[in-house]
Amino acid sequence: MGIFDKLKKKEAAVSVIGLGYVGLPIALEFARHFRVVGFDIRADRVEKMRNRIDPNHELEASDFDDCNVLFTSDASDLRQAHFHIIGVPTPIDAHNLPDLRHVLAASRSVGKALKKGDYVVYESTVYPGCTEEDCIPVLEEVSGLKAGPDFKVGFSPERINPGDKEHSLTTIVKVVSGCDEEALENIARTYGQIVTAGIHKAPTIRVAEAAKIIENTQRDVNIALMNELSIIFNRMGINTYDVLEAARTKWNFLNFFPGLVGGHCIGVDPYYLVYKAKEYRYHPQVINSGRFVNDSMGFYAAKQLVKKLIAAGKNILGTKVLVMGATFKENVTDIRNSKVADLISELQSYGVRVDVTDPFADPEEVKEEYGFGLVNEYDHNYDAVVVAVNHAPYLRLTEDDFRNMMKDNGPGILVDIKGIYRNKIKDLTYWSF
Ligand SMILES: NC(=O)c1ccc[n+]([C@@H]2O[C@H](COP(=O)([O-])OP(=O)(O)OC[C@H]3O[C@@H](n4cnc5c(N)ncnc54)[C@H](O)[C@@H]3O)[C@@H](O)[C@H]2O)c1
Repeated sequence: MGIFDKLKKKEAAVSVIGLGYVGLPIALEFARHFRVVGFDIRADRVEKMRNRIDPNHELEASDFDDCNVLFTSDASDLRQAHFHIIGVPTPIDAHNLPDLRHVLAASRSVGKALKKGDYVVYESTVYPGCTEEDCIPVLEEVSGLKAGPDFKVGFSPERINPGDKEHSLTTIVKVVSGCDEEALENIARTYGQIVTAGIHKAPTIRVAEAAKIIENTQRDVNIALMNELSIIFNRMGINTYDVLEAARTKWNFLNFFPGLVGGHCIGVDPYYLVYKAKEYRYHPQVINSGRFVNDSMGFYAAKQLVKKLIAAGKNILGTKVLVMGATFKENVTDIRNSKVADLISELQSYGVRVDVTDPFADPEEVKEEYGFGLVNEYDHNYDAVVVAVNHAPYLRLTEDDFRNMMKDNGPGILVDIKGIYRNKIKDLTYWSF
């Protein structure tokens, strides 16, 4: 009997290693069909999941209905499973180099539990070649087994979009790959059980790894172009969003916007490709330029605001600014690699006093990660307000609301990073990307 039939008959189980934004939905979805072991090194997070709480606040308690997952922080429980899915973080280090610590540690945990006939599928985003060159050797060394004849390996990139309820695990076409034909077929069948949108079989593991990394690299480079355009148009006194609205009327103009590119994917994954390209003696120029532009935008926005404050006759050392939004994108709780933090630290480096507020971010997490707290109540004595993230509750704000936040009821400065209030602000000094 093949692995799929064993999973179906519950004679074999799926394990998911790393129960974060990616791993938890996978564990829950597979648990509607198969036996599932969900493993995470963070016992505190595991405890929450046992109580039907998603530590990342993306899923509701009802999403745990009919999902009998064995949530565990004991790696020896992985021995109960035969189809292992690894979804641990793949960040970059302080020098923008791939940090494979988690994916290699997870490979060691799985390696210890590996039995003949088992499957290991990586979902973490990595550079082309990582699964075969970095991860399989660990699995082989720890297990004493050989990939191919003894156990199968595959790569299936995760393509979910944080905060996006429309495009979810089951409704996005799943790219799968395997170390051989048999692995590919069985991995495709297994994911086919949960993904309704369809399965795309990539010819090799490297192709599947590369496909994922270029999805985010393409977005990064395109957003970088918009950001660069916004720097140029700012000097020309033209509003970028006005330009884009006009240009978009052409059928083949691509729909990208300027903004702060943070988070754990778009601002990170291109560095994985850059790193690997260098091994092949190619030094990517376009990708690195895109990274440079996008990584500079938080500092750029802060400098523009400081210029506006000076132009308004303010003494910078006495100014106070409210920054609205701290997460890396709209309507999520995730603050990792948020470029709003760059904006804030740059303002503070000029001596500006900054209050930060966010309806979704966890104040303790923000304090731990960035060293600044969040305020719930506005002071109503700001010289400027920066709307850094287009969170849903902010979309309703009017000029009167902003005026109410300003010192002496205005006239203050509104920095509108996402161009939400374009054409709606008459009296305040307005600036956007
Ligand atoms: N978040 C997304 O929307 C998204 C989308 C596509 C791809 N990805 C990729 O998926 C991977 C996972 O990202 P994420 O956002 O789910 O990360 P995450 O930080 O939300 O979750 C990772 C989980 O893995 C756990 N963990 C870390 N090391 C472990 C180990 N050795 N063994 C077991 N558990 C371990 C952590 O405790 C955490 O709970 C990354 O490679 C990321 O680039 C993420």
